[in-house]
Amino acid sequence: MTTQLPTDDPTRTAAWTRLSSLAAGLVDTTVRDLVDAGAERAAALTRTGARIHYDVSRQRVTDEVLAALLDLAAERDVRGRRDAMLGGAHINSTEDRAVLHTALRRPSTDALAVDGVDVVSEVHEVLGRMGAFADEVRSGDWRGSTGQRISAVVNIGIGGSDLGPAMAHIALEAFSTREIDFRFVSNVDPTDIAEAIRDLDPATTLFIVASKTFTTLETMTNARAARTWLVAALGEEAVERHFVAVSTNAEKVAEFGIDTANMFGFWDWVGGRYSMDSSIGLSTMIAVGPDGFAEMLSGFHAMDAHFATAEPADNLPMLMGLVAVWNRDFLGIETTAVLPYSQYLSRFPAYLQQLTMESNGKSVRLDGTRVDYPTGAIVWGEPGTNGQHSFYQLLHQGTSTVACDIIVVARSENPLTDQQDMLVANALAQAAVLARGRTAEEVAADGTPADLVPHKVMPGNRPVSVLLVDRLDPFTLGALVALYEHSVFVQGAVWGIDSFDQWGVELGKKVAMGILGNLTGDDAATFDPSTDASIALYKQLR
Ligand code: F6P
Repeated sequence: MTTQLPTDDPTRTAAWTRLSSLAAGLVDTTVRDLVDAGAERAAALTRTGARIHYDVSRQRVTDEVLAALLDLAAERDVRGRRDAMLGGAHINSTEDRAVLHTALRRPSTDALAVDGVDVVSEVHEVLGRMGAFADEVRSGDWRGSTGQRISAVVNIGIGGSDLGPAMAHIALEAFSTREIDFRFVSNVDPTDIAEAIRDLDPATTLFIVASKTFTTLETMTNARAARTWLVAALGEEAVERHFVAVSTNAEKVAEFGIDTANMFGFWDWVGGRYSMDSSIGLSTMIAVGPDGFAEMLSGFHAMDAHFATAEPADNLPMLMGLVAVWNRDFLGIETTAVLPYSQYLSRFPAYLQQLTMESNGKSVRLDGTRVDYPTGAIVWGEPGTNGQHSFYQLLHQGTSTVACDIIVVARSENPLTDQQDMLVANALAQAAVLARGRTAEEVAADGTPADLVPHKVMPGNRPVSVLLVDRLDPFTLGALVALYEHSVFVQGAVWGIDSFDQWGVELGKKVAMGILGNLTGDDAATFDPSTDASIALYKQLR
């Protein structure tokens, strides 16, 4: 009997077959061999786009591998899929939605009709309203119910409605007003909201309730807690001056009691994890001002334009995505550490976890057939140099190979003595050591006693990409985020999966609601034996 093979299987391309044999042929070739082959490699394998310099010379790739990866992209029609996304096709097929976060940063002179509506003019209408509101809050024209100016903004959201704004708040602190205190509440753990508001004055606090759906348990629960706290101090009529909403769901916003005149909308074609540049970024706009936000959008747009027009071989997101596929599917590397050498990017790895893992943590293709090749890598990280003193030991000498993205910022916003040079020296040292390692002969040549030599050998051969940017300003942050967004897209296109749905997170939410019924009510529902035992123990202890 013949089996019907799935039509969208990347392993059936000629390029995949070639890449498999290239990987087999590279078994004895290390990153050190490649790096040491000649000075021209570093220049040849560094590409620049939207002010980001992306260096893959420490990746375990040869010219043949790169050529075959580009063939793979061609055979998978990544460019055609990209154009479909940019043009507003419903490429999120399981939710029947367009994927148009790129429309959020198109200039107002552009037009893009989706389902008969010009989305660019809609985007700019909302940006205009956000700008006017942000200016009012920043200038003190927006007053609380007692006539005082706003000195604290609390963003209540979770996932894409929290991680982007929270990450950007830290990333752009040097460009932000210091007159307003920004806080971010996400966890349904009551501690999160309690600690966030405990020292705030309701009369000077503005809450932004950020939720695409306006139904998310955590966000609505925290928003209700915030409302109760505010109303207890200032009365019901104060809600109007102290709560604004960011959502696609006007009905639910009104139901919650927020005037829809104080709601900033967005659209179902913006995925939560792709929304930090939509009105979900309202807190960012209040922090950096409308001009700073526009700068960030132009950075996003510059990378979009680069992705849309640069030749595949010079295209940063294309290369980043293809290198990720190479590491995952052909070198068998399961995890990628993102290591920003910038304290301002301390939440960037957490932000990327949602962007990458919620997007490409999938195991069926668009046609519903199961993949039999690895998809999205596990992404994690912490800023350097801190990580060097905690988990880098495993990166250097552990039994798992971890691919690394090292992000380096050339110019510090806080130039103190030579600390920036120290930081960058550490970043480049780690890139060198991870890639090249240290052989037994080199260790012994130092006079190391023979019994210690094996302990000091550094295997190296850890693939590293170095991303170098001039400075971390709003433009660069936008370009950096867009680079990773499009890299995720390229990987998903090669794998033939839907990078824009997230069905995997739904079941847990549903089961939690069932268990909650048991914990808080008379609902005597039972679950599996382990869950029932845990419930019983919790009830004893609480
Ligand atoms: O649970 C996952 C998720 O749906 C994310 O995709 C999303 O960013 C987050 O929840 C928050 O959703 P919302 O903005 O609708 O509250």
